[in-house]
Amino acid sequence: MAVVLITGCGSGIGRVTAQRLAELGHNVHAGVHRGDQAPPGRARAVGSLTYVPLDVTDPAQAQRAVTDVLAEFGRIDALVNNAGRSMFAALEETSDDDLRAIFETNTVGSLRLARLVLPAMRAQQTGTIINISSLAGFAPRPYLGAYAASKSALEALSFCLAAEVREFGVRVVVVSPGSFKTGSHRKRRPPGVDCGVERYRAVLAAKKRESVEFKAGRDPIEVANVIADCIASAAPPARVFVGPDAERLAAERRSLADDEYVHRLATAIAGY
Ligand SMILES: NC(=O)c1ccc[n+]([C@@H]2O[C@H](COP(=O)([O-])OP(=O)(O)OC[C@H]3O[C@@H](n4cnc5c(N)ncnc54)[C@H](OP(=O)(O)O)[C@@H]3O)[C@@H](O)[C@H]2O)c1
Repeated sequence: MAVVLITGCGSGIGRVTAQRLAELGHNVHAGVHRGDQAPPGRARAVGSLTYVPLDVTDPAQAQRAVTDVLAEFGRIDALVNNAGRSMFAALEETSDDDLRAIFETNTVGSLRLARLVLPAMRAQQTGTIINISSLAGFAPRPYLGAYAASKSALEALSFCLAAEVREFGVRVVVVSPGSFKTGSHRKRRPPGVDCGVERYRAVLAAKKRESVEFKAGRDPIEVANVIADCIASAAPPARVFVGPDAERLAAERRSLADDEYVHRLATAIAGY
């Protein structure tokens, strides 16, 4: 079974995935952002599940997490970069600090962890790096600009890295979920700038309501199962969309010219 390091396991998709992978018999080191996020008691595990402190924006903690996996198992078969932050804001109201904070976790943190596991994976001549993106990284949505940009950048990094490390036996996979029921919408960073534009307030409020309704449905176990399949596969795909909304909206994005896409988004905004 695989030795796996996964980030952002204090809640949501990460929490469910760490548990699922351990149930399947993998040995999982599950990074938690804050110490109080590790669930109490013993996990249901055929393999092993160990919660470790891991803020992906902290280089020393990231190094320690990887060193600990290697010290315990002597190898690392999969890295799942799941930790992520989101933000709902018009871009005019997105500050430099907002943008940096989102990129630090979603993009810089993910590449940091990838760099740390690659020496072991190259030496083993095998390994899988799974980067959790979002439909928004492929089909960006207004008022999610900073988040979408961080995930698009993560996707660009992922595809370049995939090409660079394939010859060393390492696979890189982008997993792009649609909307899944987690508490992430409650943690979205508020806009750092207030331009006093009433329309921004109104559209944001409407979009927030819509997002809560949208997130009511799907179980993150679906994403966990896709991640498990990628880890089990010798040749996983370069990208997987997860959920019917992601598949439908990605197909729609592919079918539209850029002008048509922007027109469609702007028309939707005008309707709020
Ligand atoms: N749920 C969806 O519908 C959906 C859709 C598309 C993509 N995704 C992606 O799926 C991943 C998981 O999201 P989720 O929905 O499960 O949300 P979530 O419950 O908020 O999970 C994200 C986890 O990442 C942690 N985190 C944030 N910053 C971190 C950092 N610097 N270092 C380490 N961990 C950090 C969070 O900890 P704190 O609670 O302390 O912030 C949280 O435990 C994210 O990458 C997200 O972008 C989710």
